[in-house]
Amino acid sequence: MMRFWLRLDSISLTLLLCGAGCFNSAPKAPPVGEKYTEQAAMGMIKASRGPLAPVYAPLGEYIVSTFEMGEKEGVGIDLGSGPGTLILELCERTRLHWINADINPHFFAHFYREAQRRGLGHRVSTVLADAQALPFRDNYADIIVSRGSFHFWKDKEKAFAEIYRVLKPGAVAYIGRGFSPNLAVETARKIRSQRGGRMKYDVDKSADELRGIMKGLRIAEYTIHRPKPAGADDVNYGVWVEFHKK
Ligand SMILES: C[S@@+](CC[C@H](N)C(=O)[O-])C[C@H]1O[C@@H](n2cnc3c(N)ncnc32)[C@H](O)[C@@H]1O
Repeated sequence: MMRFWLRLDSISLTLLLCGAGCFNSAPKAPPVGEKYTEQAAMGMIKASRGPLAPVYAPLGEYIVSTFEMGEKEGVGIDLGSGPGTLILELCERTRLHWINADINPHFFAHFYREAQRRGLGHRVSTVLADAQALPFRDNYADIIVSRGSFHFWKDKEKAFAEIYRVLKPGAVAYIGRGFSPNLAVETARKIRSQRGGRMKYDVDKSADELRGIMKGLRIAEYTIHRPKPAGADDVNYGVWVEFHKK
């Protein structure tokens, strides 16, 4: 495995070149425009350390146990990982190498610092990536996860097609927004009240949208997850789609 460093302002991006080549033939530069700023990254980093902090450990735990990833080796991708907090939880519970693939490079220096601090620096990489044109070769990843990002993707069907392309046959994608069912209801309720209107959305509509995307891509076997633990009738736990590559 060979690494090289690219200086981008004050940010170091590690581009991981894998034996078989992780990149798709011609990686296109994502449109790093005014939306993907340092300020946007700092806002999300702050939220991930503040109100959203309790979300990531239970979600990591849930993903690893649900998809039996504990002993699996290979590569995992968190698409739109931002601060990468979920990756660090997944890293601690698996043997996989995890890639923070995000369209905003301003997260990456922070992510590496946190990974180093937790002794996980050698288990992670970052790749500047637009979900709609993933810079990975076909059949590359053993799992792709994404939390709180898909609703930003302009062409969602294209992005989900890319996820499908990049998954290894038999590998799973778990893409969505919100929480896992093992997050304590009190905690979920508190997060929703702290985040207020910013996190309000129609879960039924989102679920329908995900179903439409699956239909458009002719992915017949998929599961929509709408976590709803006991006592959480008044709390939005979000919506997720799980699908496996044939
Ligand atoms: C609300 S944040 C969620 C971050 C992280 N997944 C979490 O749960 O803490 C949304 C993330 O999606 C990323 N994003 C938005 N559009 C994207 C795209 N087209 N391709 C890749 N990442 C994207 C943003 O840069 C940001 O990091």
